[in-house]
This record gives sequence, C-alpha cells and structure tokens, in this order.
Amino acid sequence: TGAGTVVVALDGPAGSGKSSVSKQVARRLGYGYLDTGAAYRALAWHALERGIDTSDAASVLDVSGDFDYAISLDPDSYWVRVGGVDVTDAIREPRVSDAVSGVARVPAVRQSVNALFRALVAHSGRPGVVVEGRDITTVVAPDAPVRILLTAAPEVRAARRSAELTTQDAAAVAAALHRRDASDSSVVDFLTAAPGVEVVDSTDLDFDQTVDAVLGVIRSALSAS
Ligand code: DC
Repeated sequence: TGAGTVVVALDGPAGSGKSSVSKQVARRLGYGYLDTGAAYRALAWHALERGIDTSDAASVLDVSGDFDYAISLDPDSYWVRVGGVDVTDAIREPRVSDAVSGVARVPAVRQSVNALFRALVAHSGRPGVVVEGRDITTVVAPDAPVRILLTAAPEVRAARRSAELTTQDAAAVAAALHRRDASDSSVVDFLTAAPGVEVVDSTDLDFDQTVDAVLGVIRSALSAS
C-alpha cells in the first residue's frame, strides 16, 4: 500500500451497498475510490471476448498475460477500460457476473491483481483511497489504518439488488445472489470479520445512515492512530 496514502479497506458481499457507500465516503473525504471487483470482472470480460473457458484455470492464466487494464479512481467519474475499450457497463452484464468467480478463483490471478491494486493506491495522487472488495481487509491491505466489513441480512441485500435490476423478478435475483454468495465464499471468506475489522451492519440503515456510520468508524480510527 502506498506510502503516505491512507487506505480505508472495505469488504462486503454483493448487495451490501458497498460500492455506492464507498464512492460517497470517498467523495466526502476527498479520497480516491478503488473498486477491486471491477478488475476480476474486466478480466472475465476479456476472457469471454477471447472465447476462453473461464472455468479452466490454465486458460484464464494464459489470457491474463495480455490484459491491458485501466480504471478511474475518481468517485465522480468512474470508468473501466480493457485494451483502451470502455467496458464500464459491459462488465455488469449477467454473462460476466456468471463467469467472474472462475476467474477470481485462480491464485496467480489474485496475486497479480493485488499487486496492481497496491500500485494504483500508491499512485492515486489523493490523500487516501477507499478500497472496496472481498479480501481487502485480510489480504490486499491487512495493515490499513481503517478496516471495515459492511454487511446486511441476505433478504435485504436481495431486495436492494432487485430494486437496482428492474428487469428481473425478485425471486430470480435472490436465487442469483445466493448462488454468487456461495461461489464467492468458496474463494474468500467475506462474511466473517477478521480480528480488528469493524463491522457495519446496514440491514436497518438507509443509504445516508450507512455512509455516516462508515464515516464515523473512519474518523474514530484515524483520530486514534
Ligand atoms: O464486487 P463485485 O460483485 O463487482 O465483484 C465481482 C467478483 O469479483 C465477485 O464474484 C467476487 C470477486 N472479488 C474477489 O474475489 N475479490 C475482491 N477483492 C473483489 C471481488
């Protein structure tokens, strides 16, 4: 992690609100915002473009060799590019969501994207970066001065997801979320807080209350350090 750059490590499951909350927290603090899941999604997109079987680790590793990746750390201007192509929207497509766990499961892929995350933080040009993902508090930045696990009850997460995805029915969204929790948690355990990680449970909080709760944790952690 970057010398002098304050890292706020924030993990959580799909539908916990972690992306929108992280972005807003970054805005409020004048920090950068790094969405780490986007790297796995972009690599999955890249593999699908190449016609690679994303469940085959050797093929995934092979295609990760020519992965030209760029992401914005500006919470007010978010974009993701692969080989100069804007994939900001494409990486949210269901075909990518379905393929992403296969990509994220490859240990050598995780090591190389983690090195990339640390370099992005070090060169952010900001006083701090909110780094959001699944293994930030445990693997990417275990020494960060602020480490938070953002949780919410599964039924609340499913309800938030289906409100976002107005085209799909609620039962299908809940089933998809459950499937992704299961496959994601076989890669990294993001449902239990590691020692020293502060839990913020957003089940009974609205968006602004969740942002305030996270800002409260950050302020007290930074004033104590
Ligand atoms: O947060 P997201 O849904 O965009 O994440 C996409 C996928 O990447 C998800 O299946 C879990 C994986 N991921 C991961 O393994 N480690 C991270 N730090 C972030 C995401």
